[in-house]
Amino acid sequence: MATWSAPGKVFLFGEHAVVYGKPGIAMAIKPRVIVTVRESRYHQKPNSPYIAECFRLMDVKGSVYVRSQLPSSSGLGSSAAVTVATLCAINDEFELKKTKTEIADLAHQVEMSAQNGRASATDTYVSTFGGMVLVRGSEKRRLLPPQNFSLVIGNTLVSHSTSEMVGKVAELRKNSPDIAEPILDSIAAITMHAMHNLDNQKEFGNLMNMNHALLDALGVGHPMLSKLVLAARSAGAYGAKTTGAGGGGSMYAICSKSSRNRVAGAIEGCDARAITTTIDTDGARKEKDE
Ligand code: PMV
Repeated sequence: MATWSAPGKVFLFGEHAVVYGKPGIAMAIKPRVIVTVRESRYHQKPNSPYIAECFRLMDVKGSVYVRSQLPSSSGLGSSAAVTVATLCAINDEFELKKTKTEIADLAHQVEMSAQNGRASATDTYVSTFGGMVLVRGSEKRRLLPPQNFSLVIGNTLVSHSTSEMVGKVAELRKNSPDIAEPILDSIAAITMHAMHNLDNQKEFGNLMNMNHALLDALGVGHPMLSKLVLAARSAGAYGAKTTGAGGGGSMYAICSKSSRNRVAGAIEGCDARAITTTIDTDGARKEKDE
């Protein structure tokens, strides 16, 4: 029996654009998914297509038990965390000796098959290695996380489908490339500005607000996301934006330590769930078997 866990993430900048080779920045966060895998002669058919694909790719049979501190379908990277933790647990249980880089690559393949061939390596890379990372095509650059980063997540409690939202942007890109391409290019420019302003919370916040507006323009907004973003900004956040695929799911805000509770309260006041969290620097790790 082998038990591994992997963290969730927030997409700080560049979601959707990252699918088309533009830069994206993501950060691993504390809530985790914990997966136990046990070798068995008979394969227990997993409910999750992600887990089924992990067993298929690793070419082994076994049973699996998942515990999650992360809400699923909420834009917080739960499917990537399940995938990474499952691959690590299989790797350990069956002594397959794959490196973490190989695990991250396999996890990306799993997400690709679940998202109809359109998935960036961001979620799976950041969940495997932790910390903050810039992804652009096959390039992955680890970033030095800013100090005093107060982050409040607002989960709309409206579940979304990543592949549906990715498909929606692909549709816009196909039907109206003259509209879609400049929006994706602007998101890319904002992401690069953000990378150079990690320690300037005011500028970082402005850039978040711009990125949020462009996600709305791409058609991946939701009334609850708009409501939470506006509530967080009114409560004093430096900036607030959707995180992840959109169409529901979650948003995040950055704020000063003194306004953190006010921002979380404003989100809860909109009948959503606020999560106050910080960066995870561990990435995937082995846990004690229970
Ligand atoms: O909502 P999430 O956590 O699945 O994030 C999706 C991010 C996208 O950029 C829309 C897709 C991707 O593969 O990067």
